Amino acid sequence: MIKVSPSILAANFLNLQQELDKIKTADYLHIDVMDGHFVPNITFGFPLLEALNRVDTLPLDVHLMISDPSRYVDRFMDFGARIIAVHIEAETHLHRLLERIKSRNVEAFVALNPHTPVNALESILPFLDGVLVMTVNPGFTGQKFISLAAEKIRQLDSIRREKGLSYQLAVDGGINLNTAPTVVEYGADILVMGAAIFRSDSPKEVIEKVKELKR
Ligand code: DX5
Ligand code: ZN
Repeated sequence: MIKVSPSILAANFLNLQQELDKIKTADYLHIDVMDGHFVPNITFGFPLLEALNRVDTLPLDVHLMISDPSRYVDRFMDFGARIIAVHIEAETHLHRLLERIKSRNVEAFVALNPHTPVNALESILPFLDGVLVMTVNPGFTGQKFISLAAEKIRQLDSIRREKGLSYQLAVDGGINLNTAPTVVEYGADILVMGAAIFRSDSPKEVIEKVKELKR
């Protein structure tokens, strides 16, 4: 079954509890951490994680769009992250960092910017719990889906079958009810959705429709 990870970046922060109540049927809560350095936007960090970790939420899926993620991953894990995605473009010692994440029973994902080819992951795929394929340039919610970047899901799906690997495929950026069927057909397992869920009149219906999609 397809999993849905609503991105809190698109939520109304003035009514966060109400926003969280709308997405209870989803699988994860996607947290976009941006540092104004790796990406041209600044969002939120530890205080939000700490607050979410104190209440009953969906498992936290933390997407780090920050330079030098190894300096901060431990604190994100302390605050209850269930998945941590680090950008391949941001980390020099990726294998070491992934092992550190996995040693705490947190799922280690690697995120790829739209320009980064699948073969950049070749030597690291057996160590991963998942790949987060970006289908927009990271930084903002509500951007247009880049279909060429989505082709990487298809490539990664055939590699995992050929090599007998079991990493999950997540996709993030411009996913809505029009683009979701394509990425599901390509092999995506987890769909991150911001605007399409939080700016919809019926988030619950959107989540339900996506979860019903079949490969
Ligand atoms: C983009 C973020 C996404 C974003 C998705 O930098 O990583 O998670 O919130 O938003 P939508 O689904 O609106 O493109
Ligand atoms: Zn994200």
